[in-house]
Amino acid sequence: MNDQNDPLLLDHEADGIRELDNKLPRWWVWLFYITIIFSAVYLGYYHVFAMGKLSGEEYKVEAAAGEKLKGAAMAKFESTIGTLAPSKESADLNAGRQTFMLLCAPCHRPDGGGLVGPNLCDDYWIHGSNFVDNVKTIWNGVPEKGMITWKTTLNPKQIYDVASFIYTLRGTKPVNPKPPENLTPVRTGPSEYE
Ligand code: HEC
Repeated sequence: MNDQNDPLLLDHEADGIRELDNKLPRWWVWLFYITIIFSAVYLGYYHVFAMGKLSGEEYKVEAAAGEKLKGAAMAKFESTIGTLAPSKESADLNAGRQTFMLLCAPCHRPDGGGLVGPNLCDDYWIHGSNFVDNVKTIWNGVPEKGMITWKTTLNPKQIYDVASFIYTLRGTKPVNPKPPENLTPVRTGPSEYE
């Protein structure tokens, strides 16, 4: 232990613990000064002279750039909807099945037989029976009738995949299907499922 006469020893004591007034190491003191200088520069740069963007502002700029990219991708997809043909790739169909089971089955039933939403397996269609009609209906939705606009939730690829999956349901025989209420059968486009 240190000698009672140690010049560094302070004269207060708590429960027998005494304190040495050691000099701080120079590297530590310099680090401390540097943080003070840094804070002054930071304050001037970001707050006083507003030369740099604060993170909130940076976020807004990046989000706007992201929205622009997204808008361009959506517009590009929208312009090609009319030319789309259903995918037969199993990877696409599996991805579409997953989306369908997760988001669409609650209203259209897992087998597509219909519940709140109409039967997707029969020949009765409200908004056109061909693939392109389906993609458009999924993309835009029919909000006033309870079918959500999916373009804000799903990306173009997911919509294409789920529409391709629905296409495979045509002509299948779901158990206890929802009847076509007052609709006449329509088969616009090629009726591949005859
Ligand atoms: C909240 C319930 C609900 C969910 C969830 C839902 N739909 Fe629908 N869907 C409906 C209703 C209701 C209609 C009928 C709209 C009408 O009467 O015009 C419909 C119509 C459709 C049609 C057009 C049917 C026709 O006869 O023209 C397609 C295709 C379709 N939905 C696909 C999907 C897909 C794909 C999903 C999942 C991404 C989905 N729906 C999720 C309620 C739903």
